[in-house]
Amino acid sequence: MSKENIVLAADHGGYDLKVILKDFLLNQGLDVLDLGCHDLKSVDYPDYARALAAAIKENKASRGVLVCGSGIGISIAANRHPHIRAALIHDRLSAELSRQHNDANVIVFGGRLIGTDVAKDCLKAFLNTEFEGGRHQRRIDKMS
Ligand code: RB5
Repeated sequence: MSKENIVLAADHGGYDLKVILKDFLLNQGLDVLDLGCHDLKSVDYPDYARALAAAIKENKASRGVLVCGSGIGISIAANRHPHIRAALIHDRLSAELSRQHNDANVIVFGGRLIGTDVAKDCLKAFLNTEFEGGRHQRRIDKMS
């Protein structure tokens, strides 16, 4: 895993998994920027998606992790930002493909749906897989 700065954010539905994934990233020796939330009090996921998108835009981090209860709302919110390609992930192969084919810069989990070991495995694959470029870059260019 290459040394890079990873930004994390979650709503209350994703808080528990975010805590676990933050520890996981720190144990891998990565620098982590945690934008909250910082407890289980009910909050609105678009606010956290927006904060994470801003951090990436401002080059405070190269890639990000978002978590909400299902992963769906915070994915929709994140992908409204043109520079964000957020992939809602449930398995390792999808994590790899999100990098190889889509150059995803944000991985998203449903904290109430995914097991913690599966999420860690997916996150590791996401961080270690390179974008393949070529025809995939052409397709990404058509979205910007
Ligand atoms: C919050 O209860 C929940 O709606 C949110 O975390 C997420 O699952 C939305 O898509």
